[in-house]
Amino acid sequence: MRPDKRGEMLRNTRMIGLRAGTSYGGGMVNRRAVVTGASSGIGEATVRALRAQGWDVVGVARRAERLAVLDEQTGSRSIACDLTDADAVSSLVDELRRTGPVHALVQVAGGARGTDSVEGGSVDDWQWMYDANVLSTQRLVAGLLPLLRLAAQKSGHADTVFVTSTAAQVGYPGGGGYNAAKAAESMLVKVLRQELNGEPIRVVEVAPGLVHTEEFTLNRLRGDRIAAEAVYSGVPEPLLGEDVADVIAYALNAPRRVNLDLVTMRPVAQSAQHLLARGPLQVRTDD
Ligand SMILES: NC(=O)c1ccc[n+]([C@@H]2O[C@H](COP(=O)([O-])OP(=O)(O)OC[C@H]3O[C@@H](n4cnc5c(N)ncnc54)[C@H](OP(=O)(O)O)[C@@H]3O)[C@@H](O)[C@H]2O)c1
Repeated sequence: MRPDKRGEMLRNTRMIGLRAGTSYGGGMVNRRAVVTGASSGIGEATVRALRAQGWDVVGVARRAERLAVLDEQTGSRSIACDLTDADAVSSLVDELRRTGPVHALVQVAGGARGTDSVEGGSVDDWQWMYDANVLSTQRLVAGLLPLLRLAAQKSGHADTVFVTSTAAQVGYPGGGGYNAAKAAESMLVKVLRQELNGEPIRVVEVAPGLVHTEEFTLNRLRGDRIAAEAVYSGVPEPLLGEDVADVIAYALNAPRRVNLDLVTMRPVAQSAQHLLARGPLQVRTDD
């Protein structure tokens, strides 16, 4: 990490760590965030960022063993849950209600399966993508809004942040199932913001372009490690999970009057969804 970046993070941590406390039921408690997708990539980086800033964090994903390591390292207190299973989400909500307030929901979990054409698309893959990205989001919102409202009543406000994608904004060949699912998730978020109008609950959408995480492309390409690495090959500095986590943390820690409706973020090397520079970035000169 660049030394100036580390200094900046420490400064932010000191400043924001104070803000993570809130008055709740007469006493001071930390603000508590539920972060899904916590077992890898952007979600894991978000757990680390929020813990470093003094938030209490509940990480959620299916793989309990990875969550246990994260808890050990960061002091988060995670709960394993398959968000495509309605009963499991109900149990998660019960557990959260029992264990403390929920001031923020950060919905990161989701993903892509396959790069088939629309004509050749697998219905199973498309169904999984709709379930994992859209219906899981709806289940979480429906389950957690009562808890978020309770926290907002007691502490003044609550937050929701959703990680969609630039794939929600622009389609590309082979992206059909993922484009459709992320666009649907993005629309759900826009509707939710309007439905909550008048309540002190922020609704933030973060739409990243290419992020080099360990598993996203690997899962999409069904474990083909060589093909997955080729996606990032030669791209000068794709985004990292930490970059997205920084934006999420900013959105949560910003003054409560500020709602970042939609943050679209890409690597400098990706000036549009389909326009990816490979090889080092270079200043063009006339000679
Ligand atoms: N990487 C990119 O280029 C990129 C770009 C734009 C947007 N995004 C979006 O950002 C989000 C995170 O991406 P990432 O790169 O961090 O991917 P990732 O490393 O593959 O992480 C996905 C996370 O979602 C969890 N998850 C998947 N299905 C789940 C389920 N049924 N129940 C509970 N948790 C589930 C996974 O945990 P378990 O497997 O342990 O359940 C994992 O923690 C996704 O929504 C993705 O669409 C990614």
